[in-house]
Amino acid sequence: MAIYYKNNMFYLHTKNSTYQMKVERDFLLHVYYGPYVGETDMSYLIKNIDRGFAGNPDGITEKGFSLETQPLEYPAYGTGDFKNDCLKVVYADGSHVTDLKYVSYDIKEGKYALEGLPAMYQGEEDVQTLEIVLKDEYKNLEVVLYYGVFENLDIITRACKIINKGKEKVNVLRAYSMCLDFTYKDMDFIHFYGRHAMERTMERTPLLHGMQSVGSRRGFSSHQHNPFVILCKQDATEESGWCYGASFVYSGNFAAEAEVTQVDGTRFTMGIHDAQFNFELQQGEAFVTPEVLLSFSPVGLGQLSRNYHKAIRYNLCRGKYKTARRPILINNWEATYFDFNTEKLLDIAKEAKNLGIEMLVMDDGWFGKRDDDVSGLGDWFVNEQKLGGKLKDLVDGVNEIGLKFGIWFEPEMISEDSDLYRAHPDWALQIPGRAPTRGRQQLVLDFSREDVRSCIFNQMCEILESANIEYVKWDANRHLTDVWSAMVSSERQGEIFHRYILGLYDFLEKITQRFPDILFEGCSGGGGRFDAGMMYYHPQIWCSDDTDAIERLEIQYGTSFAYPISTVGSHVSVCPNHQTGRTVSMKTRGVVAMSGTFGYELDVTKMSEEDKQMVREQIEDFKKYYDLIQNGDYYRLTDDGRKSPFVAWQFVSQDKKEALVNVVVLRARANAMLHIVHIKGLDPEKLYSIEETGEKLSGRALMSGGYPIPIMENDYQAWQIHLVVCE
Ligand code: DGJ
Repeated sequence: MAIYYKNNMFYLHTKNSTYQMKVERDFLLHVYYGPYVGETDMSYLIKNIDRGFAGNPDGITEKGFSLETQPLEYPAYGTGDFKNDCLKVVYADGSHVTDLKYVSYDIKEGKYALEGLPAMYQGEEDVQTLEIVLKDEYKNLEVVLYYGVFENLDIITRACKIINKGKEKVNVLRAYSMCLDFTYKDMDFIHFYGRHAMERTMERTPLLHGMQSVGSRRGFSSHQHNPFVILCKQDATEESGWCYGASFVYSGNFAAEAEVTQVDGTRFTMGIHDAQFNFELQQGEAFVTPEVLLSFSPVGLGQLSRNYHKAIRYNLCRGKYKTARRPILINNWEATYFDFNTEKLLDIAKEAKNLGIEMLVMDDGWFGKRDDDVSGLGDWFVNEQKLGGKLKDLVDGVNEIGLKFGIWFEPEMISEDSDLYRAHPDWALQIPGRAPTRGRQQLVLDFSREDVRSCIFNQMCEILESANIEYVKWDANRHLTDVWSAMVSSERQGEIFHRYILGLYDFLEKITQRFPDILFEGCSGGGGRFDAGMMYYHPQIWCSDDTDAIERLEIQYGTSFAYPISTVGSHVSVCPNHQTGRTVSMKTRGVVAMSGTFGYELDVTKMSEEDKQMVREQIEDFKKYYDLIQNGDYYRLTDDGRKSPFVAWQFVSQDKKEALVNVVVLRARANAMLHIVHIKGLDPEKLYSIEETGEKLSGRALMSGGYPIPIMENDYQAWQIHLVVCE
């Protein structure tokens, strides 16, 4: 049994972890999350020590029992725990105190769902759900804590529901999704920061007293911080040490916080950021928090990542393309930007077909009046004058050449220079009378409004039904400011950030259900909304607007900590690269892009014969290695190049019979030293043949001694070896 209750203790077990809680004097305490300990009651770890200025709950005279120092499962504001709280509300009388006491529990087979929100689902795994009810008796405010235990995946999901059962209204000012109270502090905080065109750079720092936090108040999960955080023991490496991950299944504002306490414990919390958050609950109404995916690995960061890769790939991503091979695409953005027509696109398609590419994606600029980025958003009708014909003719033409056809949309945005804006200026998020902030010269549509969403939905459906469109790139190129909606009263404006995301999810659910055969790729100026929430709707997301293969090493390395290869949108682009001006070989560009969904984004009609031949070979390689890359286990063999002179990563098939090692050497050196790459995840007892050299070496040798990388004669050279078990 993955979940059971015994002697006031809750036990949650996965293959390699145990999670325990205890009901103590009516409070729900967090007892333990760590390596599997079976039935051992770990509550001996909690000591009631009298600490100065630590108050006691009503009715408790034992000075050592204070909410300030007890590890709490879901801390609420105002009853003597002065640390970071998960729940803060203001009642109709203006008071802010919530005293949560344990009421009951229920254990159910299967996985709970969260209405209107993305969440992990059961799939082929056995899953159990635990629901625990807590309550503030005085105000009749109930909190239901949800736990989904995916035993084999080593994942425990968490979410909660706050229900106002009182007569008067309640305003929820903060409702986080989870808290973990650790009894120790000697951990590192690993997070993934960045900026547009350089997302998810890994940073690791020791926890210090006080708060370490990352988050977003931009309305989107953002390029700047990713809603995935790891706490790990300070000696944890890729292969050893305890690591705790928390992935937020949400695409809007978030906070991930680690607070080291006065008694050297750590409180780790995650949830919707409370900036401009104020959710009103009338009698009987409830607020549901988004889900957090927790995972624990006792054997380092590599295993932690592999836990998330499987969970996200198989129990969060959905639809036909969750596992089906995605077409190798060519996108015209970096080839033409806004300057294209049917003739140009057909030329690209013809050449692409010759190279083995399978789909043409027409990016920004095909609709409304849109020859640059200042106009047209919101007018989702085809600009036939610009295209020089009908969309259907273009799509049919592309299909006749033998390619599938995909198209770009930016459904959440509106240009002031658009018919839609001229008709409905109040549909944009802006405050009447106040000049709005613009981003990329555009405003954001109020997606909290059903009428706004349905207008865009209908426009999109019309386009998608007008021709044989098999792919949609869903872009969103600015963050949210002027968050105010004409649809709700002044008291409820604090709900709009979240209602926007609920509206977005509602739209995505409807459009993906209506077009189940279309492959949807998410995008927000690259990876500005690269989060587990979006992956529920989009099985792949454009990873970054930075297509430089060397920059991508860093971005894809950071991305790999939480997200599977199948979600990482990655293309080969032209050199000199448009973002950095750097030139690297076609081989290197291919090796890097192949560790993703794989596609091209350059003008193939202008390529040299030599590069074209390389592309043909690359496509053959991609097809050959597809199963290994997409379904194999992923191993990071080095860092992202900040310390290591080369960046290496590897895929190993589930049966360990095959592996693909990828290396990019960053700098060629005179009289160069020999670099050795230590291969991982092989079967030590098996003999592997190296396809490229014909050598035969044991898994043990390759993992213990490693394998020498050939000396490279130029910067940024890539090298791959394919290992196959000798039967
Ligand atoms: C940002 C995206 O990330 C790019 O790939 C491209 O689609 C542009 N938007 C188009 O405006």
